Amino acid sequence: MSEPRHFVDLWRLDAATLLAILGDAHRRKAARAGWPKGRVDADAPAAGRTLAMIFERNSTRTRFSFDAAMRQLGGSSLISTSTDLQLGRGETIEDTARVLSSMVDAIMLRAERHETMEALAGAATVPVINGLTPRSHPCQILADLMTLEARRGPVAGKTIAWVGDGNNVCASYLHVAGKLGFSLNIACPDAYRPSPDDLARAVEAGGRVMLTDDPRAAVAGADCVVADTWVSMGDVDHEARMQAFGPYQVDEALMDQAGPDAVFLHCLPAHRGEEVTDAVLDGPRSLVWAAAENRIHAQKSVLAWCFGAI
Ligand code: CP
Ligand code: NVA
Repeated sequence: MSEPRHFVDLWRLDAATLLAILGDAHRRKAARAGWPKGRVDADAPAAGRTLAMIFERNSTRTRFSFDAAMRQLGGSSLISTSTDLQLGRGETIEDTARVLSSMVDAIMLRAERHETMEALAGAATVPVINGLTPRSHPCQILADLMTLEARRGPVAGKTIAWVGDGNNVCASYLHVAGKLGFSLNIACPDAYRPSPDDLARAVEAGGRVMLTDDPRAAVAGADCVVADTWVSMGDVDHEARMQAFGPYQVDEALMDQAGPDAVFLHCLPAHRGEEVTDAVLDGPRSLVWAAAENRIHAQKSVLAWCFGAI
């Protein structure tokens, strides 16, 4: 039996696969322009298939975008929090994987620990999709890149500036910078840098990565500025973070230091007045709402790839 196509971390996928998924996402989105959101795509690549979703942490976008995505692909989904499952009472993730693999065609997990994601992928005989761990958020980055491409063309040769925590979302940008050929400038306090492993992966893949503690240096000439919350789910050092990230707010003055057509992205939920001002989030340079919608389109193509339709 062939190995399932897991979508756990972007650094595990080659550039051709990433570009094929992104291309499919653009085509699917264009093909259904103006359609009701519940209508099924003409090729229905998930017809007869079911996706199980398990959430160990809160979610709005990931939950609804995957559910809506499966419906648009002609399939269906089942959603549960981990506390509702025997997983929450100590059943192992491996046993859960074995049982769910006999009942559904793919499993999406939002996990408190990245190791849980890897254990699920190691034990499941159906594709496993990473819906966020403390170490990465691959679905978000595909939606972000799709959004940037729609506005500014291919990401190869572009400069993306990350301002804030070197967290899970930042890590997934590092995982594709080299493969897709964009420069990644990261401005963060020393204590909140990306992990050495993720920086090394980016450099090994030929990524052009600049690391600085100066937000103005990072955004200078950038095509896209990206921010995320200063306190992610599971972070406990709230006070220290608020102190450290104070100088990293993305406001209009910082956006003015970026390239003339620079756009702004944020995975959401945003903490208005902290990492980003209302004026930037709601302003003409913000693509955050388009990126949120693109979670559906990008994930439909991830699912289609998992099911072997790409
Ligand atoms: N951006 C994102 O993953 O949002 P949710 O936490 O609402 O799923
Ligand atoms: N970095 C954030 C992303 C939320 C979608 C978190 O992990 O909470």
